[in-house]
Amino acid sequence: MSIVINKKKDIFLLNTRSVSYAFGIDDQGLIRHLYWGKKIDSVEDFEMPVLTEVSTNDPVFEITREEFPVYGGLRYKEHCLRVVFADGTREIVYQYCGYETDRTEEYEELIIRLKDVRYDFDMNLHYRIYEDYDLMERSVTVKNGTAQRIQIEKLHSGQFHIPYEGLNFSNVHGHWGAEQQRFTQKVSYGKIVIENRRGISTHNHNPYFILDRNATETSGDVYFGALRMSGNFSGVIEQTQYGETLAQIGLNSHDFMMELEPGEEFEAPAVICGYSESGFETMSRNLHHFALKNILREGYRPVLYNSWEATGFNVNSREQIKLAKKAREIGAELFVLDDGWFGERHGIDNGLGDWYVNESKFPNGLDELISEVKALDMKFGIWVEPEMVNPKAQLYQSHPDWIYHFETRTSDTSRGQYVLNMGKKEVQDFVYEMLDNLLTEYEIDYIKWDANRPISQPGIRRDIWYTHIEAVYEIVRKLKKKHPQVLFEACASGGGRIDYGILGIFDDFWTSDNTDAYDRLYIQDAYSYIYPIKAMRAWVTDCPNFLSGREIPLRFRYHSAMMGTLGIGCNILKFTEEEENLSKEMICRYKEIRPIVQEGDFYRLENPSENRYFLYEYLKGDQGLIFAFLPQSRVGHRGTTIRLRGLEENAVYTLKTEFGEITKSGNYLMNFGMNLSLTGDYASIIIPFEKKNRE
Ligand code: DGJ
Repeated sequence: MSIVINKKKDIFLLNTRSVSYAFGIDDQGLIRHLYWGKKIDSVEDFEMPVLTEVSTNDPVFEITREEFPVYGGLRYKEHCLRVVFADGTREIVYQYCGYETDRTEEYEELIIRLKDVRYDFDMNLHYRIYEDYDLMERSVTVKNGTAQRIQIEKLHSGQFHIPYEGLNFSNVHGHWGAEQQRFTQKVSYGKIVIENRRGISTHNHNPYFILDRNATETSGDVYFGALRMSGNFSGVIEQTQYGETLAQIGLNSHDFMMELEPGEEFEAPAVICGYSESGFETMSRNLHHFALKNILREGYRPVLYNSWEATGFNVNSREQIKLAKKAREIGAELFVLDDGWFGERHGIDNGLGDWYVNESKFPNGLDELISEVKALDMKFGIWVEPEMVNPKAQLYQSHPDWIYHFETRTSDTSRGQYVLNMGKKEVQDFVYEMLDNLLTEYEIDYIKWDANRPISQPGIRRDIWYTHIEAVYEIVRKLKKKHPQVLFEACASGGGRIDYGILGIFDDFWTSDNTDAYDRLYIQDAYSYIYPIKAMRAWVTDCPNFLSGREIPLRFRYHSAMMGTLGIGCNILKFTEEEENLSKEMICRYKEIRPIVQEGDFYRLENPSENRYFLYEYLKGDQGLIFAFLPQSRVGHRGTTIRLRGLEENAVYTLKTEFGEITKSGNYLMNFGMNLSLTGDYASIIIPFEKKNRE
């Protein structure tokens, strides 16, 4: 049983495999947090402490560990909910109205029913327990039962209480070409805020929080929560004056207001959260398992070839066919035609919105390329940017009012384009029909959905920061229903669009336009903390890299990209024989190891060496892989020791290194480890290993 209730004391204990979360209802009807941490079995041990005011300057609400602090009363910390009732009242006073439980195949759920004491306004707190994954999902639904409109000004799905001070907070910062740059900072008195104000997902921060007590990969307390939403979010971490740290994450209240009509209900984006007593590895593994089993679509992701870096906007049927043939020869399974195939798209300033095939580039239509691709026994994918329009495009000329705008202001272009107002029914219909027609008319297996600018001049509605992306999701859901075989890749000018809201609606995720294989090691490492490897698209591209100017050997570039879902973005028509042969070998190898890479358990291994080795392990059943990279040799040729993780102590494993086979016990490999010495710059190696069957 995951939900244990002490009815006498009104205390709820939510248990997963190794974690407990407890709260209760006090004599004032307040929902008060009691515990989050290592599993405690007996609900009887929990008591609801009596609250006493410290002083009139420290009102009771300030020291109360509320599960869902609302705006009102003597509350001065972050609240989760603020609404304006029709008469202008902005304070909520709730009463506890009981609970319900539910159970599905995937989770057990506890719903705490709250109602305003004066207005017919319901707030239901949802706790879904995914016992096997050691995860819980919190969300809140609000319902307007009054006869008038209620305005929601702020809504976060819950407050998290971590009973310590001086924690480390980590997230990622970044920008285009440098997404997923992991950072950690000490939490002290005051607040840390991360957010998105762009409407389209941001590269600057990602909607999750990780709070740890000097944790390592394998030790220490880690508390985390990831928001299931891609629009404007805000996350607030606050160390209080009373010995604890608060965390909230949810809809950003910046320029936000949502109206709830009479009878209307709204479910706020959920937070998938958990606790690990043994470091970051457990956190990542629980999230990865959950994503693989509960969120992401089944099946391995294909090895793709994408022509963007080879041809830019300058696409044409003849050259794309040549590229497709070569892509097939080296082993690609999916050919993706990127930007430039439609309308008058010759650069960034035209074409978006005019989704017809450009005849000068494809005189025989798209079918010519598609049938060649199919004849090569490859799948075919195509690039679109459906939320956008160029001012020069026919679509904009016919529908200038379809973009976000203020009547009295000039709308800004960015990358030469405007953002379509996805809140308008006619725009939603246009986007859906355009894509539905494309997928119906052509044999398309893969859509790369891009979005290259943020929203500005959002118009008078202040809920677009949420509804824009919801409209996108709805369109993709509908398309997938009608075209279930099509895979959807999310891209937002690189790797901006990845979060637990979009995961699963889209199937594949572009990680970054930065395809420099060395930079990618950092990006991929940070990405792996929260997101599953199967959702991490990584390409091998040409050198010198267009961003970094760096020259990196092709083998290293492949190894780096083989850590995720492999793609090739090189101008393969210019490959030397040697490059072609190596590509064939690497892609063939990737296909063999793909089940382990895409669905295995992932470990960020410790590097004890002075030399900056990047060491990773993938483990699926009896088979595993070690990825080792040494971008630059420092301190002579000092080697490293690889200590594996997750093996069976008493089992025997065989590792196939370039220097011969090594056979050792799991115990030995996890404790003594294996010495590895790579030499030179940009050295890399993949070492497969396997559990030996007992004779
Ligand atoms: C940005 C993406 O990240 C690239 O991969 C490419 O699709 C371009 N847009 C096309 O304009």
